[in-house]
Amino acid sequence: MKNPAIFFSLPPTQVEHKKLYGPIWRSRFGPFDVVNVASPELISQVIRQEGRYPVRSELPHWKEYRDMRGQAYGLHVDKGLQWYRIRSVLNPKLLKLEEVSAYAPVIHQVVGDLLQHIERLRLRSQDHTTLCVVLIVQCVLSVPAGISSILFEMRLGCLQEEIPKDTLKFIAAANDMLTLSETVLFLPLWTRNVLPFWKRFVQAWDNLVDVGIHGRFDHNMDAQVLAGKQVEGMYLTYLLSCDKLTLGEVYISITELLLGGVDTTSNTLSWALYHLARDAASQDRLYREIMSVCPGRLQPRSKDLSRMPYLKAVIKETLRMYPVVPGNGRLTVDNEVVVDNYWFPKKTQFHLCHYAASHDEGEFVDAECFRPERWLRGDPESYQHHPYSSIPFGVGVRACVGKRVAELEMYFALSRVNKRKDGAPTTEPKTRTLLIPSKPINLRFLPRA
Ligand code: HEM
Repeated sequence: MKNPAIFFSLPPTQVEHKKLYGPIWRSRFGPFDVVNVASPELISQVIRQEGRYPVRSELPHWKEYRDMRGQAYGLHVDKGLQWYRIRSVLNPKLLKLEEVSAYAPVIHQVVGDLLQHIERLRLRSQDHTTLCVVLIVQCVLSVPAGISSILFEMRLGCLQEEIPKDTLKFIAAANDMLTLSETVLFLPLWTRNVLPFWKRFVQAWDNLVDVGIHGRFDHNMDAQVLAGKQVEGMYLTYLLSCDKLTLGEVYISITELLLGGVDTTSNTLSWALYHLARDAASQDRLYREIMSVCPGRLQPRSKDLSRMPYLKAVIKETLRMYPVVPGNGRLTVDNEVVVDNYWFPKKTQFHLCHYAASHDEGEFVDAECFRPERWLRGDPESYQHHPYSSIPFGVGVRACVGKRVAELEMYFALSRVNKRKDGAPTTEPKTRTLLIPSKPINLRFLPRA
């Protein structure tokens, strides 16, 4: 999910501010007034008082775009019962474990393509081992192909030799929209006539909707469903045929789900591969676990994952160090709240500093070190930490709707890519609404004997 509010401080700044002011402080940027909370305890206090229909933050610019184009609002913009109605339709087939397991074959197909793509690029590289510059990120970025297969019953084609124009357009538009979303929110309205940002923001949304919706299924799937035909398929078919959302709401939900797949699982996977490449012991331990559960060429099934705690720990640790959404928001709507014994009125915007909480030495010893073991029950390295110290998908009714799909994608991809290997220079993260690597991650992939 994208949390396009620039007034939320950047990850390293979160840590600095926490050092300076303690775990709760107020910041003001232009018209934005925000209460920052940066300890697991205070984050949990805010979330526990979030009410029945939690709101992250106002997105006036997203709403304005939707109004301008006469579109439905969708998950991010809708509030209260309206939001809840859409969520209740989206949830069942995305968050129930047994339902999500049905997507396993399609995710495996995409991961298979990913492996072939890595192999092709590896052989084409100068030293036949290093995937450099954009290549690895591009490879891994292709994992959103998984979500598109689930949604559309077709692939966005990121993994073909030549990436289709529409796919590149969608990815570029997603990047533009997210980057510009921050800028547009901050700039006063009069700047729209002199600066290019609002126009570019609108163009980016137009492209997203165009590719994500009209380019994909306007002319086939919905036409068939509307004509009363029984269509075999996956998620989109379910949305179209369940009759609980308007066509406009289906369109916008699909676009938002696709957006959720861009840069989330791909960045997490990039960081996981990066750390495994630098840490031979972790890489070997993961390899041994995978081989013990899925020997030879066997692919993991959903039910195998319960026997792969280290695989899950690697992803958890990666998301602790690089939470894709480093700072989330909660706007108190219905009630006044008390946090840290301070009273806050309705309409208070809280910023939940997840990055600061999950990098806190008090919670995680050697917080800057990659140690998947800390998540293993019974391991000498494991220890108790606050349940809200690392909540990369959020918790509660408003938590990430794509969590289960994202996890399945990452578990399958990481376990199968782990058969290759190693080595990378250091790279720092940066924020562009989501936390992303500041420069390309270079990895050497060597086929295992
Ligand atoms: C590593 C992968 C991912 C992470 C860490 C992540 C994280 C998050 C977080 C923190 C939120 C906000 C939750 C809250 O406010 O409490 C969120 C919301 C959301 N995510 Fe994800 N996400 C991931 C992948 C995905 C994927 C693959 C999809 C698409 C299937 C997706 C779709 C969404 C949507 C639509 C929302 C908004 C839900 C709502 O407002 O009701 N996410 N995500």
